[in-house]
Amino acid sequence: MAKVKRVYSCKECGGQTPQWAGRCGDCGAWNSLEEEVQTASTTTSQAATISRHAGYAGEQKAQVQALSEVTSEKAVRWTTGLPELDRVLGGGLVTGSVVLIGGDPGIGKSTLLLQAMAMMAKSSGISPLYISGEESLQQIRLRAERLQLEKVPLDLLAETHAEQMVATAAKLKPQVMVIDSIQTVFTELLQSAPGTVAQVRESAAQLVRFAKSSGTTMVLVGHVTKQGALAGPRVLEHMVDTVLYFEGDSSTRFRILRAVKNRFGAVNELGVFGMTELGLKEVSNPSAIFLSRGDDALSGSVVTVIREGSRPMLVEVQALVDDSPLGNPRRVSVGLDQNRLAMLLAILHRHGGITCSDQDVFINVVGGVKLSETGADLAVLAAVLSSLRNKPIRRDLIIFGEVGLTGEIRPVQAGEERIHDAAKHGFKQAIVPTANAPRKAIKGIKVTAVQHLSEAIDTLING
Ligand code: TYD
Ligand code: MG
Repeated sequence: MAKVKRVYSCKECGGQTPQWAGRCGDCGAWNSLEEEVQTASTTTSQAATISRHAGYAGEQKAQVQALSEVTSEKAVRWTTGLPELDRVLGGGLVTGSVVLIGGDPGIGKSTLLLQAMAMMAKSSGISPLYISGEESLQQIRLRAERLQLEKVPLDLLAETHAEQMVATAAKLKPQVMVIDSIQTVFTELLQSAPGTVAQVRESAAQLVRFAKSSGTTMVLVGHVTKQGALAGPRVLEHMVDTVLYFEGDSSTRFRILRAVKNRFGAVNELGVFGMTELGLKEVSNPSAIFLSRGDDALSGSVVTVIREGSRPMLVEVQALVDDSPLGNPRRVSVGLDQNRLAMLLAILHRHGGITCSDQDVFINVVGGVKLSETGADLAVLAAVLSSLRNKPIRRDLIIFGEVGLTGEIRPVQAGEERIHDAAKHGFKQAIVPTANAPRKAIKGIKVTAVQHLSEAIDTLING
């Protein structure tokens, strides 16, 4: 390996210095210098950085080719033995790809991967290598015993040194490698502590380069910071082919796996799991669990149908609107963007004539689901209205639609499919955007189409 030199480069302007300083000498930005490696053999530092991140071999000469002449290779996919994980990956784990799985500590990343690797080894005869930097081999063995997977031919390695990992993998030639977690890995090229941005980025770059050059499929585990980003390095997301987030409340049983980037499939695909004593079990009909509520109609509860990836899903939105003792009433939402809630309440006031300015407003999306699409807007407002007026909403009513700033109810994607799904789950009435109203009546469900928020409120209160 060429001799390495450490440099500090500015995150803002890219300027480099051999010494760390609190302020970049080139652009004057504070606290923007980060440690990096520069290989002495390359002339320009830019080239070194680019080739390192892209995982190219630097000196290779690339040929220009016409698009039509480039031969395509069909992605070979392995099934992971967990259908919900396969679905989120776009139909299975693509061989030679690099996948990053992020999530809060304790959410079940290690469990998920141990199960997936064991299933792959057991049923498809694939040879996986599970590298853990967080747990000892005994701990992994204990977990495998809980999962009743201790007899599976699975290679384990407790290691945090990136160069050693690469050396071991080069010798062992596993077909799939799991690195749990990237935050514990360090490279000897840098002096900073494991877990720092520079270390994570550099170690990940080395591992990804190894995976790509050897054709090994690799799964990296990453921790998520309090802000919800993968700890420190968003750059990791650029290096890999697929980024999955494992979310959910660790106090509830349900876990949701979401694809946020996928070079081999659709994004926003959701996989739903339940955490049991025997590990993660997939939930093939998620609507059923998110809707497990009693029989009485209660004020503040509304069911909406969201569409995540390729399937619609029914979820319950709850609101509590209560007199506020504070001069500046609270708006708290779990599972819904806070800003979106503030915006919706403003629309409700301006275009619906209903004010919550002296009320605390709490929103909760049941089951730890995060609403990432706007189709639930109308349902959120309906829940707020129901709680404010203490007027229960019929239990067999489903509501969806995006609410625009002018109070218009905008259509959502695949509206008809959502209504069909609701009808399938026994809903008898629907309030939907006019543009989503089905042309032909759908059996078993009465659809009311609304164009403006005032119409929707009218329908809710009077009919
Ligand atoms: P873990 O996979 O270690 O989470 P992560 O790697 O994301 O930090 O485990 C998460 C939690 O799941 C842990 O608190 C214990 C629980 N758990 C079960 O409920 N059942 C099981 O079979 C296993 C293995 C773990
Ligand atoms: Mg873990």
